[in-house]
Amino acid sequence: MFGKLKQRWKVNGVNLVLILCTFALGGSLCGYAGRQLIMLTGLEKGPAWVLLYIILVTLLWPFCVLLISVPFGQFTFFIKYLAKMKNRISGKKVTQHSIAIFASGAGSNAEKIIQHFNAIKPGSKTQGRVSLIICNKPGAGVLQIAAANDINTLLIEKERFFNGDHYLPELRAHHIDFVVLAGFLWKLPPALVKAYPGKIVNIHPALLPKHGGKGMYGNKVHEAVIAAGEKESGITIHFVDELYDNGKVILQATCSVEANDTAESLANKIHLLEHRHYPEIIENLLNAK
Ligand code: GRF
Repeated sequence: MFGKLKQRWKVNGVNLVLILCTFALGGSLCGYAGRQLIMLTGLEKGPAWVLLYIILVTLLWPFCVLLISVPFGQFTFFIKYLAKMKNRISGKKVTQHSIAIFASGAGSNAEKIIQHFNAIKPGSKTQGRVSLIICNKPGAGVLQIAAANDINTLLIEKERFFNGDHYLPELRAHHIDFVVLAGFLWKLPPALVKAYPGKIVNIHPALLPKHGGKGMYGNKVHEAVIAAGEKESGITIHFVDELYDNGKVILQATCSVEANDTAESLANKIHLLEHRHYPEIIENLLNAK
């Protein structure tokens, strides 16, 4: 039962205990406050007393759990929990998306996407969470970012990824319905692309179709841009198909390439563009579904 709750609320064991304590103490506080308030009315115990008690407890409960959640460090959880309850009661349809990020580098884009979805207002129509980080490089920075944000990780190996079940069982187990590539260098196997039609996006640090394709990643892209004498570079966010950097373009944003730019300085400009646009584009795509 506790395992199921952990999964359902997407929390670890410590937070689950704190949440359950908040429920218990919040409920007791609410019962106590309800009784005290009725005492003020001087009402005798009877059907009217019970009815008033039920009304008061229902009204007080959200405030009591929120109050208790503060010292237990669970305020954010309960704000979201109450917003979900409100949506359910009012019949508002909220879509909860579960996102997987494939990344094998520093993970700065993954971090921005995680933060973006964590910050979406509880009442919004589309809710999403990065539920899984998939990586093929032990020691990659993105794994630390996942750990710091309490996100499950999957370290994959080549043979199973390309010739086995492509880790589809794990994606299904995490209810993944949208896949984001953010610094993942392997081409996706066709079966994986087919499993998520129109639901896999990638970001490339240049203006495709120029400076893309196999082997074009990291500073190699920026070096090629500078060597080609480009006056402009930028980012391309696109859908993913079976080929490298090939799917339909969703957005391109540009920055200038100055005469004194190095691969590093250009990379910094590109990262700023990526962080500004990628999380927002992902949210827009999910909203449109
Ligand atoms: C980004 O520049 C992205 O365009 C490319 O890989 C890089 C990943 O950077 N696909 P980070 O690991 O997110 O910092």
